[in-house]
Amino acid sequence: MRRLYYIIPLSLLLCTSFFSCEKTESVKVITPDSPILPAQVMDYRDIKLSQAFGSQFNNSNPLSQFLDGESINFSGSAKAPNPKVTNEGATLGRVLFYDKKLSLNNSISCAGCHHQSKGFADGLSSSPGFEGRLTPRSSMGIVNAALNNGMFWDSREDNVNAMTLNPVQNHIEMGMEDLDFLEKKLVSVDYYPELFKKAFGTSGITKERISSAIAQFLCSMVTSNSKYDQGVSLNFSNFTALEKMGQDLFLNKANCASCHGGANFSVANSNMFSGYESTKGTANIGLDIVYKDQGFGQGQFKIPSLRNIGLTAPYMHDGRFANLEQVIKHYNEDIKPHKSLDRKFLRNGAPIKLGLKQIEIDALVAFLNTLTDETFVKDPRYSDPFKP
Ligand code: HEC
Ligand code: HEC
Repeated sequence: MRRLYYIIPLSLLLCTSFFSCEKTESVKVITPDSPILPAQVMDYRDIKLSQAFGSQFNNSNPLSQFLDGESINFSGSAKAPNPKVTNEGATLGRVLFYDKKLSLNNSISCAGCHHQSKGFADGLSSSPGFEGRLTPRSSMGIVNAALNNGMFWDSREDNVNAMTLNPVQNHIEMGMEDLDFLEKKLVSVDYYPELFKKAFGTSGITKERISSAIAQFLCSMVTSNSKYDQGVSLNFSNFTALEKMGQDLFLNKANCASCHGGANFSVANSNMFSGYESTKGTANIGLDIVYKDQGFGQGQFKIPSLRNIGLTAPYMHDGRFANLEQVIKHYNEDIKPHKSLDRKFLRNGAPIKLGLKQIEIDALVAFLNTLTDETFVKDPRYSDPFKP
């Protein structure tokens, strides 16, 4: 297997009196050309859902909603299903997700803006794409995507299957506007025909198959092992007093769960929040009086899942808040009186002030951090196959 070696000259830095200059060059291995895959395909269907999910679904088998293409919606209307996840399909999707060849100039993969260690966000308020130009919005974490009704900050796509080729084509992100060209390009990459054959039975490479494989991979990324998940069956005896206080505030006084609800802490997985049907699960939370970016319209943005939220800073569609404390201070005292402000934030025609004390703000932050799933961000099934 060929590998690219980059010589990083460290001489300037390390050439001190006690180092011999000849020995100060280090060799760094950069991404190999071909993915390194395990001999035995990994089991993407081996997922243990916590009891948080068991009780939330009208369907008695929530796993089928993640892995067999059934997607959940809050309106009860039929929508195009996601593909069924197979181990070979998700494996191909993993390779595609991490492959820079999906971009026009081979400079960026999906993972360039979606880092596993950051819950698949990237820590930036806008991200450089294939030509270094910045995305107008902050990258999003990828979390139980099969449960998302609306994809992207403005919920413009209905489900994972519909959105996967979108970033590839997007001129800022990856620049591959001509998908026929992408098909031809991948045919010429030696490892793809075999991977497509394993995933789909024949080696043909089509945009539909590319899309399906990436969608399978995204749907297989299930997070269900946070401290919160572990606590569900223990009556949260694993929580600290501060975390319990935060949970109580989240559900009651601060009313966060009225939007970030259900097992996925988002609007999309419960029929209870049907008030958001007409806005595709978006709401205006009073960030601004004048919006540069209108989102779904009138400053309404997707009500995102809060799973792994401790990993995905900075926050909001434009990454304006650096940490969770700033987010909570917004809800506590800084909601702006926009004409489309969600009614939940109005009292007598004016934005509410929650009146949270510092200890309550700390408690909410502590509770939000219980939603982090450390096993998810280390799971080899979702890791970079091009990393040597
Ligand atoms: C240059 C950075 C960049 C690249 C490359 C990129 N993304 Fe994204 N991704 C973003 C941004 C920014 C958003 C939010 C965009 C918006 O709301 O308009 C996003 C949103 C998403 C979402 C929506 C999550 C949700 O909950 O709604 C998914 C899923 C996703 N990207 C997957 C991918 C896949 C798959 C690829 C590769 C085919 C990819 N991304 C490539 C930056 C990027
Ligand atoms: C009316 C519905 C609603 C309520 C109530 C609500 N949120 Fe949100 N939340 C949203 C929307 C919509 C966004 C995205 C806004 C944007 O980016 O412009 C959001 C974003 C967030 C984010 C950032 C997510 C990210 O990925 O960047 C956090 C954290 C958050 N909310 C926590 C809370 C907490 C804590 C409460 C309770 C104090 C709460 N929310 C109450 C709708 C709501």
